[in-house]
Amino acid sequence: MASVPTIALNNGVQIPQLGFGVFQIKPAETAAATTAALEIGYRHIDTAQMYGNEKEVGQAVREFGIDRGEVFVTSKLNNNRLERDDILRSFDQSLADLGFDYLDLFLIHWPLPAVSDYVARWKVMEEIYAGGRVKAIGVSNFQPHHLRNLLAASEVTPAVNQIEVSPFLTQDEVRAVNADHEIVTEAWSPIARGKVAGDPVIGRIAERLGRSPAQVTLRWHVQRGDVVFPKSVTRSRIEENFAIFDFALDESDMAAISALDRGERTGPNPDEMNRIPS
Ligand SMILES: NC(=O)c1ccc[n+]([C@@H]2O[C@H](COP(=O)([O-])OP(=O)(O)OC[C@H]3O[C@@H](n4cnc5c(N)ncnc54)[C@H](OP(=O)(O)O)[C@@H]3O)[C@@H](O)[C@H]2O)c1
Repeated sequence: MASVPTIALNNGVQIPQLGFGVFQIKPAETAAATTAALEIGYRHIDTAQMYGNEKEVGQAVREFGIDRGEVFVTSKLNNNRLERDDILRSFDQSLADLGFDYLDLFLIHWPLPAVSDYVARWKVMEEIYAGGRVKAIGVSNFQPHHLRNLLAASEVTPAVNQIEVSPFLTQDEVRAVNADHEIVTEAWSPIARGKVAGDPVIGRIAERLGRSPAQVTLRWHVQRGDVVFPKSVTRSRIEENFAIFDFALDESDMAAISALDRGERTGPNPDEMNRIPS
């Protein structure tokens, strides 16, 4: 099977373009799903403090018996960690739960524009980065105006902006702003939580190429240059989602999928998402 390409982040760190997402995987199922992904060949795991499964991700990586340096692991700062001391403590807690002495990538999960100063939180992220226990820092769910405010006041440009992207939400504007600042776009909910399976345009392309709709969609993302990490607890799907580097979409297939954009989100709008868990 063809291997997963890596992309250089703006500080030179390499990130595998395809990873495994663990949002909504129950802690009791996380170690098994992560182990299955590692067996299949995934070397990039996307978790978050909010997901409540960092312990199980770390356990699976450690017990799999490969060098820590061979797996890229991302976590994200929870939305209820707003003050400096709390942010620093929660980063230490993530490392302790994962059982690692460093993280590959740590992100601000949501900007929470109405309730919190995301620039102040970013300053603490910069402090964590300077401490050397994380290889890169970034943001998630930042709109162009959030990014501009942050860039105007920061030392470190985020390495990534992890945003919702799918054929139904192509996010051309945010992706262009990311690219202008050498910020890699990571596409969350890349298969629109399974909804791409019901789309006739994707279905026809998939049938012609002898691939599944999920594979065609993931291939569309990687050909656009984004990083993806589909989630599944189903071994056959984890395998299917990994097998996307031995075929290509031509320009007309790419354009037909991009034309499905209808601004449809599966998750919250970042400008309106201001809920803070207790
Ligand atoms: N930064 C953020 O705010 C944010 C928000 C959401 C997600 N994320 C990240 O992005 C990752 C992926 O997003 P997501 O989990 O929301 O959605 P997704 O990966 O687009 O879709 C996952 C859903 O699709 C199903 N599925 C997986 N592979 C399939 C296939 N080959 N054919 C048909 N159905 C398939 C899964 O079912 P089964 O599991 O039952 O197989 C699951 O219900 C998350 O795990 C997380 O790491 C980040």
